[in-house]
Amino acid sequence: MRVITICAEKGGVGKSTTSTNLAAGLAEMGKTVILIDLDAQGNAGIALGLMAGGHTGRSTAELLMKEESLQDLLIEVRDNLFIVPGSRRLYGIQKALVEGRAVDRRLQHALKDLVNVDFVIIDSPPANNILHDNAYMCSTEIIVPVETQIFSAKGLKDIKTTIREIREDNPEIDITGILITKYDSQRNQDRAYAEVIREEFGSVVFPTEIPDTVRLSEAQAAGKSIFEYQRWGKAATAYRKMCVEVLERGQ
Ligand SMILES: Nc1ncnc2c1ncn2[C@@H]1O[C@H](COP(=O)(O)OP(=O)(O)OP(=O)(O)O)[C@@H](O)[C@H]1O
Ligand SMILES: [Mg+2]
Repeated sequence: MRVITICAEKGGVGKSTTSTNLAAGLAEMGKTVILIDLDAQGNAGIALGLMAGGHTGRSTAELLMKEESLQDLLIEVRDNLFIVPGSRRLYGIQKALVEGRAVDRRLQHALKDLVNVDFVIIDSPPANNILHDNAYMCSTEIIVPVETQIFSAKGLKDIKTTIREIREDNPEIDITGILITKYDSQRNQDRAYAEVIREEFGSVVFPTEIPDTVRLSEAQAAGKSIFEYQRWGKAATAYRKMCVEVLERGQ
């Protein structure tokens, strides 16, 4: 079983978009996938048609508080695709967990008895906290989305910092890839920044770039994956290629 956290130093770079479409794409390819949303905004579930907190109102907060088991929290949203949604309760989780034991390993503990699951995909929140620690302790891999619109040396440094800090938490973790998102090949700065990122990180960067297109947010608003929303559009094609690259990188 591969456990992949989608993470980035910056907010709004496409973590949730990548988590949901990667999970949906792998499920369509016949893999059994669990998508875990650690973000109180609940975007991953909403993007697949669940209301915030899911149908049940229960979420990863109950899992981390050990109030519910993973099996009881899983919601099957598509064939082979299960989700544990995020909820607003996650906003208070840092404080609630602080008193408990092994609070950074709660998620790892919850996943340990899973069988017949190919992928766990974890959508991580923007702020760095105990939720991140939980994600990194149980992950075998990370994927780091990066936007190329804002070219800055700080951006590059942020990617390195993200990776270094995660490796401090869990030295075993692999970087499956850096994913260039919101990419517009017509924009000079996008091309220039993508080139810098590829020079700096080499083959760690996924060959496929995710294009900058409003179709992705339209799909989310409709509660559909990009494959359901616009099956043969350029965003679906890019995410499909990226799914194949993720499969290849696991071999
Ligand atoms: N490739 C893309 N092209 C255009 N818009 C995109 C693309 N990917 C994501 N978006 C949009 O950008 C916004 C932020 O994306 P998303 O929610 O995936 O980022 P995030 O990293 O999860 O944000 P947060 O840090 O708030 O969790 C959303 O409105 C989303 O629809
Ligand atoms: Mg998000």
